[in-house]
Amino acid sequence: MKITSRIILMALCLAGLFTGCAERGKSVKIASIAPMTGESAKMGEDISHAVQLAVDEWNAKGGVLGKRIELLVEDDRADPKDAVSVASKVVAQGVVGVVGHYNSSCTIPASNIYHEGDVVMITPASTNPMVTDRAYFTVFRTCGRDDQQGYVEAEFAANYLKASRIAVLHDKTTYGQGLADEFKKNILGRGEVVFYEGIARGDKDFTAVLTRVKSYNPDLLMFGGLYGEGGLIAKQMRDLGLTCPLLSGDGVFDPEFIRIAGAAAESAFLSYAPSAENIPTAQHFLKAYRARWPEVGPYSLFAYDAANIILKAIELSGATNGKKIAEAIHTNAFDAAIGKIAFDGKGDPVVAPYVMWVVKNGKLEPMQ
Ligand code: ALA
Repeated sequence: MKITSRIILMALCLAGLFTGCAERGKSVKIASIAPMTGESAKMGEDISHAVQLAVDEWNAKGGVLGKRIELLVEDDRADPKDAVSVASKVVAQGVVGVVGHYNSSCTIPASNIYHEGDVVMITPASTNPMVTDRAYFTVFRTCGRDDQQGYVEAEFAANYLKASRIAVLHDKTTYGQGLADEFKKNILGRGEVVFYEGIARGDKDFTAVLTRVKSYNPDLLMFGGLYGEGGLIAKQMRDLGLTCPLLSGDGVFDPEFIRIAGAAAESAFLSYAPSAENIPTAQHFLKAYRARWPEVGPYSLFAYDAANIILKAIELSGATNGKKIAEAIHTNAFDAAIGKIAFDGKGDPVVAPYVMWVVKNGKLEPMQ
């Protein structure tokens, strides 16, 4: 930067007119970015509520580095292009940390912006390996990865369900197809994939593709995608008399899946993290969240932890500079609601297990 521009920027910072000067600003800004509208809006609400809770708790204790924490809640509409523009917007606004995004297809392109802008991003929900495989120094996740999730699903399909003729559907997204492919890679040799096809996000009628699935007489249908389409697929496959079990992943894991599918959700198998209800360190979060909002979402806890890790790392580093915050995240272990979290060199949590859940009497229950 030329000396004259540096002087102008310093003057703007001192005058508090340039929001990019987070170190000198009156508040510390963090953002929660996820779909707040459209089919996945519930996921955005779950995430932003949890971040709000963490921010409110920190502000009640005096903020961070003696400054008030300001939360910006932004909508990426589950659209990769919107995700990139909203990422650029918050970086320009001087946000020092981002909890987001939800969809891997949004997180991956948006993380290029955070990487270039040296802004810390922790996704609570994006499970595609590519989120962290580029090993961007300021990019992390608190959730697990689909290579691990696909493996757990395949083990379950082979060993528990003893599935041998398997149909695979996916929603053609980075996440949905990625998870379906990880599952397929891990099941091959033990089960035969007799049908493999993509469906379109937003479609409501899957009877044509499910009729073709049925003609292959599979003993398992695996779906890689989200609860909106997953709920309709569960319902419509039963309406067509396709009786094999349905197996899916974290994107379908939400009570909304059961509300959409109704009785047809019964006995669906879903991979997801272990239950927070049984984790002693998660009890404060569950109680505080439920006192304000009725339903804890699948990624609320992961978002709460992500926000707390960003704020703790700001406190530990004494800085609002992205590289320094990221360094504190890389070099410390955090007492999170989910338990102790430490990150590996790529930004993945060292421990992030998957277990199988089943829908029983209209509720999601972890399996033994
Ligand atoms: N796990 C889902 C994704 O990565 C939500 O897109």
